Amino acid sequence: MTNYDDWAEIYDEIYSEYKDDLNFYQNISSDSESILEIGCGTGRISIPLAQSGKAVHGIDISTKMIEIAQIKSSLSNLTFQVMDMRELNFKQHFDTILIPFNGFQSLLTVSDQIKCLKSIKKLCHKNSKIVFDIFFPDKEIFDQKNSNYYLVSQKTQKSIEVWHKTNFDFFNQLIHTNLRVIQLLNDENPKVSYKSFTLRYCYPQELIYLFEISGLKIVNMYSDFNKTLYETNQLVIEAQII
Ligand SMILES: C[S@@+](CC[C@H](N)C(=O)[O-])C[C@H]1O[C@@H](n2cnc3c(N)ncnc32)[C@H](O)[C@@H]1O
Repeated sequence: MTNYDDWAEIYDEIYSEYKDDLNFYQNISSDSESILEIGCGTGRISIPLAQSGKAVHGIDISTKMIEIAQIKSSLSNLTFQVMDMRELNFKQHFDTILIPFNGFQSLLTVSDQIKCLKSIKKLCHKNSKIVFDIFFPDKEIFDQKNSNYYLVSQKTQKSIEVWHKTNFDFFNQLIHTNLRVIQLLNDENPKVSYKSFTLRYCYPQELIYLFEISGLKIVNMYSDFNKTLYETNQLVIEAQII
């Protein structure tokens, strides 16, 4: 499993400007009083949700991610806690439970995925919404050479380049990604660091079964945050209890 503590310090440098999903998660939880964000990281989604007045709980397996999230916000309606998504432990139910930005894919086995979904189910009432997004690799990624780094984003504002080198374990549906992160602090002195993570990818039909086995049903599945259904490698899922 990926060591997410290792990511915490650089996470906001790389991902804080990613906003494609924020409106979607804000809208989908707009009628909710209580929201749980699973795998909340440094609070990229939890903090803006709480700023709109909702009671938000963010949990993450990484102590360092949670420490950073806590430093970034002291809103009284927002709590952050270290917790494993396979063993969620709350005494309350939530109106909306979110796992944004591929967080569910941190679980690398089917049994862990089912543990997580069953654990989520216990926190749902009959109208609770479970919402998350994931990706699965498309032909472009499969065709990449596993010895080469490919530029995936270039954020000129923060002067940071992120390069990915990927390897697949096709049998277990795992994608191992090595990142080369180049922070262009000044022209002469770029800071280069290396990180890695492993994710498990799932296909749409597999997800339907996974949810059913766990006592949940998928009620909507989209290809992007505008709720369209094109052939992309992204899935946005809304589910509820059966
Ligand atoms: C891609 S980040 C997403 C962070 C945040 N939700 C966002 O959208 O910016 C995935 C997060 O899931 C967390 N995570 C991974 N495995 C977990 C687990 N078993 N239980 C709880 N959190 C986990 C990681 O520590 C990481 O912060």
